[in-house]
Amino acid sequence: MRVYHSTTRAGRQLYLRGGNLPVMSDKITAPKIRSMKGGRIACVTAYDAPSARLADEAGVDLILVGDSVGNTTLGYPSTLPVSLEEMVHHTRAAASGCSNALLVSDLPFGSYQASSEEAVRSAVSLVKVGAEAVKLEGAYVEAIEAIVRAGIPVMGHVGMTPQSVNSFGGFRVQGRGDRADTVVEAAHAVEKAGAFSVVLEVIPGVVAKRITETVSIPTIGIGAGPDCDGEIQVWHDLLGISETVYRHAKAYADVGEITKNALKSYAEEVRKREFPTEENTF
Ligand code: KIV
Repeated sequence: MRVYHSTTRAGRQLYLRGGNLPVMSDKITAPKIRSMKGGRIACVTAYDAPSARLADEAGVDLILVGDSVGNTTLGYPSTLPVSLEEMVHHTRAAASGCSNALLVSDLPFGSYQASSEEAVRSAVSLVKVGAEAVKLEGAYVEAIEAIVRAGIPVMGHVGMTPQSVNSFGGFRVQGRGDRADTVVEAAHAVEKAGAFSVVLEVIPGVVAKRITETVSIPTIGIGAGPDCDGEIQVWHDLLGISETVYRHAKAYADVGEITKNALKSYAEEVRKREFPTEENTF
């Protein structure tokens, strides 16, 4: 029996035997996430190689190269200025650190709204540098269908979609009161268009529960309560690096403080001539 070896981005070997029967691999794919409906899917953003590697080693299911790279890393006031070129740059970096988790990359504002053709071209440019799926905001049904037709899995995103901040009049909870149906309908449209999962951002928990109970794809919440099929959080919020503490987030470590203290100790030792020593000398 012939054994075929195939090497993944991060050098992991997959073995395909007997021509076409793959031996079980724990690599997480979009169909695998799709099949996790009713389970709990742990997702986090990452924007560079070491962060993606750490998230991957921690065993998260899905790593999103979010356009939140704009506010968290690039110093922009929102996600609106983030360009496709910047997403390509960060996706390439994160892909080199990600081996097991599904790597999803955000289509930034202006890269998919004008036409389905543009949406496919933008998605392709992210896949070329290692994205295994793309995410876009809103019920852009035709764009989602076209990208899926091109062989690229799509993650939907409804609710408080930050790229629409100007039409929302600020970062406000969406889907309250009689606006609930709008968000529910958007989630259903995204599902029907062929998305393998959908992010529900900053909507009332009861609305997220209603969507979760009525779509067949996994819902991934952020500020959407405990009843979704999974959760996504932004790297800098999870690790205590963000300056703002959001109600929808939880810091599991104070990496900001740890980093500052480490840098203070380093600067102090350099000034006192305690570092470097003979041990660090060649
Ligand atoms: O860009 C991002 O980080 C996101 C998540 C908040 C879902 O879209």
